[in-house]
Amino acid sequence: MKILNKKILSDFQGVRVVSIEVFAPQIALKASPGQFIALMVNKEGERIPLTIVERNKESIRLIFQEAGFTTKLLGRFNVGDSLYAMVGPLGHATEIKFFGRVILVGGGVGIAEIYPVAKALKEAGNNVTVVLGARTKDLLILEDELKEASSQLYIVTDDGSYKRKGFTTDALKELLEKDKYDLVYSVGPIPMMKKVADVTKSFNVKAIVSLNALMVDATGMCGCCRVTVSGETKFSCIDGPEFEAKEIDWEELIKRNCVYQDKEKHICNLNKLF
Ligand SMILES: Cc1cc2nc3c(=O)[nH]c(=O)nc-3n(C[C@H](O)[C@H](O)[C@H](O)COP(=O)(O)OP(=O)(O)OC[C@H]3O[C@@H](n4cnc5c(N)ncnc54)[C@H](O)[C@@H]3O)c2cc1C
Ligand code: FES
Repeated sequence: MKILNKKILSDFQGVRVVSIEVFAPQIALKASPGQFIALMVNKEGERIPLTIVERNKESIRLIFQEAGFTTKLLGRFNVGDSLYAMVGPLGHATEIKFFGRVILVGGGVGIAEIYPVAKALKEAGNNVTVVLGARTKDLLILEDELKEASSQLYIVTDDGSYKRKGFTTDALKELLEKDKYDLVYSVGPIPMMKKVADVTKSFNVKAIVSLNALMVDATGMCGCCRVTVSGETKFSCIDGPEFEAKEIDWEELIKRNCVYQDKEKHICNLNKLF
C-alpha cells in the first residue's frame, strides 16, 4: 500500500485537500464508481472511509480533506511511505446506465466523489451537467477534470471569489426551472445534500446522494453508520453509501454525525500533533 504519487490540490488557511495514488492492484481490479475503501494509516489508528476517485492498472487515487486527526496524519505521508492497511472496494457501486439528462452536484471535497460518477455517466451516453460549489476559489478542486467529464459545467463560490456567487442548490434550482432532467446525483456537506433533496422533491426529479455517515468498521458490523431510509434502518457502509435523497431522515443523520465531535477535538489536542 505504498504511496506512488502525492499532490496538494488546495490549501486554504491551513486546510489542505490532498490527492494520493496508492499501490493496490487487487482493489484497482474490482473498483467501480461510487465505491470506497477503508484505510488505517498506522497500526494504532482508526479506520477511515475514502472514495475511490480513480483506478489505474495497479493503483487507486484518493482525494481527502484534512478534516481531523487521521486525515491530517495521512496528509503527512509522502511518496514511498506505506499505509498500514486498506480494505475495499466497499459499498454498492453507482448505477451507471443511460438515464438521459443528468445533473451532478458536488460541494467541497464531495467534488472528488462525483468525478468518477460523472465520467462513467458521460461514457454511458448521458448528457451530463455538473454544478460545483466551494466556499472560496482556493478550495475548488478538479475543475479541468470535470470540464472534460461533463457537457456543461457551472461553478459557484459562497463568497463570489470565482465565477458565480451563491450556493450549488441555487444553480440546481435554476437548471430545473429551465429544463427537464431525468436524474440528479449529489455529494457534499450534509446540509447541501438535504437542500438538494428538498429542491428535487419540489420538481419531482429523482435524486441520489452518497452519504458521508460516520463509520467505524465499514463492513456492516458496528451499526455506527446507520441511517433511516423510508422508515427503515439501513447501514450506509453495506446498504449504501448511495440512497434516494427524499427517503432519508436528514435530521437524525445531522444529529448522529456530530456525536463524536468533542472527542475528536480532544484526541487531536491529546496527541499535540497539529
Ligand atoms: C463512504 C464515505 C466516503 C468518503 N469519502 C471521502 C473522500 O473521498 N474524501 C474526503 O475527504 N472525505 C471522505 N469521507 C469523509 C472522511 O471519511 C472523514 O473526513 C474522515 O473519516 C475524518 O477523519 P479524521 O480523523 O481526519 O477527522 P475527525 O477528527 O474524525 O473529524 C473531523 C471533522 O470531520 C467530521 N467528520 C468525521 N467523519 C466524517 C464523515 N464520515 N463525514 C463527514 N464528516 C465527518 C467530524 O464530525 C469533525 O467535525 C467519506 C466518508 C464516507 C462515509
Ligand atoms: S460502519 Fe459499522 S456498520 Fe457501517
